[in-house]
Amino acid sequence: DKGGWSSFMAKEISEEPEAVRNTVLGRVHEGAVTLTDLEPIAERLQEVDRVIVIACGTAAYAGMLGKYAIEQWARVPVEVELAHEFRYRDPVLNDRTLVVSISQSGETMDTLMAVKYAREQGAQVLSICNTQGATIPRESDAVIYTHAGPEVAVASTKAFLAQGVALYLLGLHLATLRGTLTAEQIAAQVAELEGLPEKLQQTIEDAAGIAELAKWMADTRSVLFLGRHVGYPIALEGALKLKELAYIHAEGFAAGELKHGPIALIEPGQIVFVIVPSPRDARSLHPKVVSNIQEIRARGARVIAIAEEGDAAVLPFADEVLRIPLATPLFEPLLAVAPLHMFGMELAAAKGLDVDQPRNLAKSVTVE
Ligand code: F6R
Repeated sequence: DKGGWSSFMAKEISEEPEAVRNTVLGRVHEGAVTLTDLEPIAERLQEVDRVIVIACGTAAYAGMLGKYAIEQWARVPVEVELAHEFRYRDPVLNDRTLVVSISQSGETMDTLMAVKYAREQGAQVLSICNTQGATIPRESDAVIYTHAGPEVAVASTKAFLAQGVALYLLGLHLATLRGTLTAEQIAAQVAELEGLPEKLQQTIEDAAGIAELAKWMADTRSVLFLGRHVGYPIALEGALKLKELAYIHAEGFAAGELKHGPIALIEPGQIVFVIVPSPRDARSLHPKVVSNIQEIRARGARVIAIAEEGDAAVLPFADEVLRIPLATPLFEPLLAVAPLHMFGMELAAAKGLDVDQPRNLAKSVTVE
């Protein structure tokens, strides 16, 4: 039931704040993270010296976000790999490796086979899954269920948010175990997690104008997405959504790669979405990305910036600015992604396409 929405996808994007809220619910208490989901692997979790995240598609981009958070908070090395690549390359695993699989459906064949392979090699497998009782969680040592609710539209939206949040909870749990963050630092991150649904709601409401933007772009043949640090997986996610929903050639790049090749693609009229890091970020990534915007603008690109409220530096160079509320850097991508989900959907709708059932795709990929 679409509940009055024009598509399941529209409904599911509107449920993104709730997906986040429900995934955090019961897992944080008074500024601390209590992941009882991890009890089956509690003992071995103490020994973990490496994390490998395996997933496909959108779930793998959520995994990339998790890498930034887990490494920063828990100081444990994290790799992210596509499940179908992982399986066939003879990865080095042992009983101190924590393999984290991510799957909305819990039935993706490549992810399932990678999970089985990892366990055979002695790794412990934790799965992040949105579907109770699916095959992947049954084959795993422990499960963190995302509580996004059923996702019907083929393109994953609210599940992505819930997967990101589940990984952040895992990062805070590991940081607690390893003593890499103080109780105050953890409490500050928990407060960010708890504040996220409201900010996400705000972001979605503020992005309502994106439907108009999508209309004037309906004839576009190619769209590029640039992001840096946690904005990079969001650029990849924005591009994937345009490919699968609007059948438009789209690519996401790490903004720092621009000069190493992609800038050659920029010609007058090329549309480029840029996810702009906060000017408050201690790593000073903001001026670097603003200078990327200047470079592509100088070559005639039309720039749509996703930037935090009050960031005036982008105004002279961007054709459009979509705003996200203030958040700490690791949490910005979980806001910035919502307008991109909306854009993919609106562009598909502007082209008269079936938003919920894009051609050639299935909701759950149970073949290799
Ligand atoms: C993209 C999308 C796919 C899935 C991928 C993994 O919008 O939906 O890329 O994310 O097929 O599916 P799950 O999470 O079910 O393993």
